[in-house]
Amino acid sequence: MLQVDNIHTYYGDSHILHGVSLKVKAGQVTSLLGRNGAGKTTTLLTMMGYLAPRQGSVTYKGQNISGKPAHRISRMGLGFVPQERGVFPSLTVEENLTVAARPGKDGRWTLARIYELFPRLKERRTNLGFQLSGGEQQMVSIGRALMLNPEVILLDEPSEGLAPLIVQEIVEIVKRLRNEGLGVLLIEQNLGAALELGDVHYVLSKGQVCFVGDSETLRNDEAVLSAHLSV
Ligand SMILES: Nc1ncnc2c1ncn2[C@@H]1O[C@H](COP(=O)(O)OP(=O)(O)OP(=O)(O)O)[C@@H](O)[C@H]1O
Ligand SMILES: [Mg+2]
Repeated sequence: MLQVDNIHTYYGDSHILHGVSLKVKAGQVTSLLGRNGAGKTTTLLTMMGYLAPRQGSVTYKGQNISGKPAHRISRMGLGFVPQERGVFPSLTVEENLTVAARPGKDGRWTLARIYELFPRLKERRTNLGFQLSGGEQQMVSIGRALMLNPEVILLDEPSEGLAPLIVQEIVEIVKRLRNEGLGVLLIEQNLGAALELGDVHYVLSKGQVCFVGDSETLRNDEAVLSAHLSV
């Protein structure tokens, strides 16, 4: 449903992505792995329209979306949970969740369903963004993306900096989203979480895909694990 073909992305003159291709399918978790600086976030930003590829294309449901503005891509059904989470510090949890939602457009996700998915956010609904823990901020960031009723959700290191119990909670949430039929693109540094969740893994190294395969294959590929992941 979402496909990246041979993209080359630059920051100014620096050539970061050298022909990355990947596919995200409905009801599957596609995992994107690689060391710091490998180009994972750059790939996601190119898919979301924040960066335009100089070569190659991003296709969503048969339509070439490369270079389209990010707000249009997000309206087409791509939800984005950025690495820095982007919770507004001076808005309440509830305001953060509803600020970008589109009222009147009846979709699957409502505030009530977000609170059902994240009971803690319901308890914290009147707290301000800056008062939240890292895990709660991550929940707000995911909830806010869901409020736009995406068909695909792109998560950039959702477990980064979180305690193991919270990581497991996020893992369960991602499973639920996949089971509801969403396509998930997951960037992870936490290999355990990625192996548990990923239906297919792409490993990036220096802006190129150096491995594609399932969890079983990746788990047994010691060369890839030691060279390109921090194992
Ligand atoms: N705004 C920018 N301007 C110039 N270079 C950048 C910019 N953002 C990232 N880079 C460079 O692009 C390369 C890929 O960065 P990217 O953020 O995509 O890596 P990443 O795989 O997401 O890493 P991390 O795991 O640390 O988040 C790195 O060498 C980085 O220094
Ligand atoms: Mg990154």
